[in-house]
Amino acid sequence: MLKRVVVTGASSGIGAATVRHFAGLGWQTVAVARREDRLKALAAETGAHTIVCDVTDETQVAALAREVAETGGATGLVNNAGGALGIESVEASSNDDWRQMFEVNVIGLRNVTAAMLPVLRDAARHLAPGETTSILNLTSTAGHDAYAGGGGYNAAKFAAHAVTNVLRLELAGEPIRVMELAPGLVHTEEFTLNRLRGDAAGAQKPYENVTPLTAEDVARVLVGAFEQPPHVNQDLIVLRPVAQSSVFHTHRGPLEPRA
Ligand SMILES: NC(=O)c1ccc[n+]([C@@H]2O[C@H](COP(=O)([O-])OP(=O)(O)OC[C@H]3O[C@@H](n4cnc5c(N)ncnc54)[C@H](OP(=O)(O)O)[C@@H]3O)[C@@H](O)[C@H]2O)c1
Repeated sequence: MLKRVVVTGASSGIGAATVRHFAGLGWQTVAVARREDRLKALAAETGAHTIVCDVTDETQVAALAREVAETGGATGLVNNAGGALGIESVEASSNDDWRQMFEVNVIGLRNVTAAMLPVLRDAARHLAPGETTSILNLTSTAGHDAYAGGGGYNAAKFAAHAVTNVLRLELAGEPIRVMELAPGLVHTEEFTLNRLRGDAAGAQKPYENVTPLTAEDVARVLVGAFEQPPHVNQDLIVLRPVAQSSVFHTHRGPLEPRA
């Protein structure tokens, strides 16, 4: 079967690691993001086809789907583009930040999903009986548990979780799996730096004295969901470092058996 997957937000962090992992297992990959230079570097390393696209822009997303269709189609989609802005309270936060988070984490996911569904269906028509195509949405544990200062990011990721469940119901009966991967603490280069608007020292703090997940950890589990037998749909995968037993409990220091 054709194994070609579109990964949004592939210019850094989890998205880039996901493209690398898929490529390592022989998948054809389409890497999507706004920063062309980073996509080019990833293409040189992995052979990915690259498409520069802002997922919040419907015209650009329509062009993305056309290009994917014209260059070989796709049997998989990973909606990973997203991020957080700010840690202010609901009272003190800004609507501009909230709008941006909703645009990328929710509207962007909807744009790409809606544009790519006909492409996935085209591929599905040529599959052998029993084979399936796949959509996986990268949400967060912030889409399942609210926390103080989470405001707009919690709201956006809760929405992305809800949309994933709606989509699974709406696609019932089609050979398209709909999966969600919700990671906890992942140390990527840019996520917290962007959230804290460039405060490099502050951006290191969540990862101090703890072993967080890496982008590669998330990518390995994510690709594993695609590599399950085609009738298996992992509806929701929650992935945390051992040191983080909930959004509210992160153990700092070595992990040790109790006396
Ligand atoms: N790191 C964590 O702790 C963590 C935990 C749970 C969930 N997540 C989620 O996992 C996903 C990836 O996170 P990450 O840590 O890898 O963050 P990251 O390194 O900041 O990556 C975000 C990616 O999204 C892309 N992107 C942002 N806005 C976009 C837009 N409008 N159009 C197209 N691409 C866009 C960025 O590329 P360009 O700027 O080049 O467009 C970048 O490649 C996000 O959805 C995030 O919310 C992260």
